[in-house]
Amino acid sequence: MLHNMSLSANGVPQARLYGRRRTHGLTLLQLRCFQEYSPEAVQARIADVFEQKVFLGVYLEIGFGNGEHLLEQAMTHPRAAFIGAEPFENGFVQAHQRAACLPNLFLYKGDVRSLLPLLPSASLDGVYMLFPDPWPKRRHQKRRLMDSSFLEALTVLLKSGGEMRFATDQLEYAAEVIRLIEASPNWSWKAQEPRASYDSASQLCNGTAKTLKVFSEHAFSLARPLSWPITRYERKAWRCGRICCYLSAIYKT
Ligand SMILES: C[S@@+](CC[C@H](N)C(=O)[O-])C[C@H]1O[C@@H](n2cnc3c(N)ncnc32)[C@H](O)[C@@H]1O
Repeated sequence: MLHNMSLSANGVPQARLYGRRRTHGLTLLQLRCFQEYSPEAVQARIADVFEQKVFLGVYLEIGFGNGEHLLEQAMTHPRAAFIGAEPFENGFVQAHQRAACLPNLFLYKGDVRSLLPLLPSASLDGVYMLFPDPWPKRRHQKRRLMDSSFLEALTVLLKSGGEMRFATDQLEYAAEVIRLIEASPNWSWKAQEPRASYDSASQLCNGTAKTLKVFSEHAFSLARPLSWPITRYERKAWRCGRICCYLSAIYKT
């Protein structure tokens, strides 16, 4: 079951998409690029990724924004395929313009929840959900994309041994994801990887322990993994002095 349901014109339940689709105007050329991303064309391209079996691994990024992380991953790992979903049109065209020279990059313009049914079960080696819309106000928290049903939809698509990376600057959101992961016997935390030293992590954990007890055991997640390409939103969060949390979990059937 997907959350945030609304009804489409023909009465079929649809997941509702919150957040802005466009913040400023697009040129005619930019608008024209959307023609390449008709649902049929994208469906055929994605089917190809799995039928050709030429890629050493397939990874999905949910909400890639302007595409910094997705493009860097695709450039660094040319033998793996990277699929990215993003409904925000200004970000999408930025990524599109730089994607032309990357044959292992596949963009989907729209809500990732309409992409998921196009992906075969147990087909993904990794899923990246980096700084999803945080919806910090209590009354908006039900708009958050990650919840138990969304996580369940992802687990259907992940291979056994597949990784999910989740990052956010909303520690309550991170704590909720930690709870979801720990509630399932099929998930385990990835062994710690090299992370930037973050001197005040333990101090911060002590400070937030009253409200976020969960971080007393997850202090390491407040230090940045060195191998993760930095995203635009993340850069801004750090510039504004917000603490970010980086989770990496492995799914095993
Ligand atoms: C806070 S931004 C972060 C963008 C990027 N990951 C970064 O770190 O810079 C969250 C992004 O998620 C996208 N998003 C929101 N709902 C989505 C959905 N249902 N499917 C795919 N992307 C979504 C938004 O359009 C937005 O670009």
